[in-house]
Amino acid sequence: MRIFHRLLIISGLTSLAIMPGFAAPQPEKRMMKAAIIREYGGPELLKIEDVPVPEPKENEVLVRVIACGVNPADPLVVSGKYAEAFGTHLPLIPGYDVAGIVEKTGAKMTRLKVGDAVYGYALFGGGWAEHMVLADFEATLKPKSLTFTEAAAVPLAALTAWQALVDAAKLSAGQTVLIHGGSGGVGGFAIQIAKARGARVIATASTANQDLLKQLGADVAIDYTTTKFEDVAKDVDVVLDPIGRDTLARSYAVVKKGGIIATLVQRADPAQLEKYGIRAVSIFSKSDAKELAEITKLIEEKKIKPVVTQVLPLTDAVKALKQAETHHTRGKLVIKVAEEPKN
Ligand SMILES: NC(=O)c1ccc[n+]([C@@H]2O[C@H](COP(=O)([O-])OP(=O)(O)OC[C@H]3O[C@@H](n4cnc5c(N)ncnc54)[C@H](OP(=O)(O)O)[C@@H]3O)[C@@H](O)[C@H]2O)c1
Repeated sequence: MRIFHRLLIISGLTSLAIMPGFAAPQPEKRMMKAAIIREYGGPELLKIEDVPVPEPKENEVLVRVIACGVNPADPLVVSGKYAEAFGTHLPLIPGYDVAGIVEKTGAKMTRLKVGDAVYGYALFGGGWAEHMVLADFEATLKPKSLTFTEAAAVPLAALTAWQALVDAAKLSAGQTVLIHGGSGGVGGFAIQIAKARGARVIATASTANQDLLKQLGADVAIDYTTTKFEDVAKDVDVVLDPIGRDTLARSYAVVKKGGIIATLVQRADPAQLEKYGIRAVSIFSKSDAKELAEITKLIEEKKIKPVVTQVLPLTDAVKALKQAETHHTRGKLVIKVAEEPKN
C-alpha cells in the first residue's frame, strides 16, 4: 500500500517559532487553512490550522482546492499504524483526491495552465487544505460535465478500480466479474467500468445498498447479509475483493480455472490459488494522469458517474475521518473546501 503513504512536507512550519532577539524581517508567508495532524492517533487529533501555502516545484502546479475526496486510507494514515512501512511523517495533511483550479505552475509545467480546472490523486496526500500542489503525473483536466465536488470523488477510487480490472485482470467483454463492496467508493466505479467494458457484473452489498448496486448497472445484486455470494456467483472470470478475511477466503471457490482475484486489502493464500488453479494480484493503486484522462473520457461519455452521498465542510474533517473508518460508506463522501466557481 505504498501509494497511500507519501511524506507530506509542509515547508516553513518550523520557522513559525521566532527566537527572541532575531528580528530580521522575513518575507511574509501566504497562509491557508488546512486539516492537519501533529501526532498519530484517532480522528479527533485532526485540527484546522493556518499553515503556509505550499510552493509548486518545477513539474508541479499549485491548486486552489474547491473539493477533496475522502477515502478509508485517510484514517489509516492519521492512525500512524503504517507510518514506517509507508514513510509518512508528521505534521501531515490527509487527502488524496482533489479538484480545484490551477493558481500557479512550476517552471517546467507546460501541460496544465493557470486557470485550468483540474482533478487528481495526490500520492503524498495533502488535499484537505485550501491549497495543495499536484505533480504532473497526478493531475489532469477535470471532466467538464462534473462539478468540482463530484470530480473530487473520482480519482483514487476510480483509478484503483481501473488498475484492478483493466490493468491487472484485463477484464474483457463477455466475462463475468464478482465485485464485493459494490456500493463503496472503489466498488461503485468498478461496477461501472466493468459494464463499460461489456462484462457481466455480480456485486455484493448490504440490504440498504441493493438499490445502488442496480442503479450502477450490476446485473446481479447480492445482499451479503441474507445470501451467501457463493450460492449465486459461480465460475466467474474475475473477483475484485476490497473486503478480505472471510470474503476472500470464500472467493477462491467461485473463480473458474485460470481466473483471477484482485485483492485490495489482503494478500491471497498461495495454497488456495494452487488448489483452484487460479491467479491473484495485490493492487497498490497509484496516481496516473494518463489513466485518469481515460476515466475522464468515460465520464464525458456518461458511462461512469461518481455517487456523492455526503458533502461536509473542511471544519467537519474529523467527522469525515470517522465515517471513512466505518467501511460502510455508500458511494463517496466529499469535503467541500470552497464554493463552486460560478461559470
Ligand atoms: N490497495 C489499494 O490500492 C486500495 C485502494 C483503495 C481502497 N483500498 C481499500 O479497499 C477498501 C474499500 O475501499 P472503498 O473506498 O471502496 O471503501 P468504502 O467506500 O468504505 O466502501 C466499502 C463498501 O464495502 C461494503 N461492505 C462492507 N462489508 C462488506 C462485506 N462483508 N461484503 C460486501 N460488501 C461489504 C460497504 O457496503 P455496506 O455498507 O452495504 O456493507 C461499503 O459500501 C478499503 O479497505 C480501502 O482501504 C485499497
